[in-house]
Amino acid sequence: MRKDLEPPEGSIVSNAANTNPANANTDANAPHANAADTRVADMNAASMSVLRTRGLRKEYGRGDGLVRAVDGVDLDIGAGETVAVMGPSGCGKSTLLHLLGGLDRPSGGEVSLNGRRIDDIGERALARMRRTSVGFVFQSFHLMEELTAVENIELPALLARRSPRAARRRATALLEQVGLADRARFLPSALSGGQRQRIAIARALSNEPSVVLADEPTGNLDSAAALDVLRLFERLHESGQTLVIVTHDARIAATADRMISMRDGAFVDETRLSGGTGQLGVFIGLED
Ligand SMILES: Nc1ncnc2c1ncn2[C@@H]1O[C@H](COP(=O)(O)OP(=O)(O)O)[C@@H](O)[C@H]1O
Ligand SMILES: [Mg+2]
Repeated sequence: MRKDLEPPEGSIVSNAANTNPANANTDANAPHANAADTRVADMNAASMSVLRTRGLRKEYGRGDGLVRAVDGVDLDIGAGETVAVMGPSGCGKSTLLHLLGGLDRPSGGEVSLNGRRIDDIGERALARMRRTSVGFVFQSFHLMEELTAVENIELPALLARRSPRAARRRATALLEQVGLADRARFLPSALSGGQRQRIAIARALSNEPSVVLADEPTGNLDSAAALDVLRLFERLHESGQTLVIVTHDARIAATADRMISMRDGAFVDETRLSGGTGQLGVFIGLED
């Protein structure tokens, strides 16, 4: 790992890299592996999925106006994986992300987070799950304009009933991690787009979520600011944070472990990329 990308001592980003199923169960591929071994390996991989969907569907409208926004998606995302989702506007990327994070209910199929179904649980349980286990990052930041940077970041922790002192401590550490310690008391209106998005990412990490779901996080940024955000995602990836990033930016996709292409609500192609981490520097020509 590059020294400057290393998380600080006692990093607050959860470190789940070693539980990545991609690194486990390699014995299943050995010549002596029998069907039972493979089955056990499959079960282990399934039980380790942070996110899992089966036959996931979301429809809007009816009759002639019926839109199949998500149309039968099967997905398994292991701990520590970064998955990029790409596809043309209107193909269902945002809808899929909302279903994965429990912001929206599916019309059919299953979604499990950390091995627990979330598609059929009650509103309160779903809200609790969203607060504690999922971090969202949106294209247009969605910061509270009347709150300062540090207040925005600590809000999810306060809503999860952490003590004000603990929430502030974590928010301060996160501000440092995203390189904005000196902007703690700035309102969003006094920050650049790139700085706002870094604040939004810090906010997403407030409750140490199992997964961060980002919807075109660089879509509103100029290329220099986008690069800052990209670097931040790459660092999160290296620290073991599970990430799903919807993006049009090939540079983000290049840093992912897997890239999924969507068309008309369905996955049409999936590419496993080599290595995943450490690619950004090479890609943008900053490293040899
Ligand atoms: N709330 C909604 N009501 C009706 N149709 C919707 C709604 N949200 C999304 N859609 C439709 O679902 C399809 C997928 O949308 P979306 O998930 O936003 O795509 P993407 O994020 O890939 O651009 C589009 O045809 C869109 O018009
Ligand atoms: Mg969208």
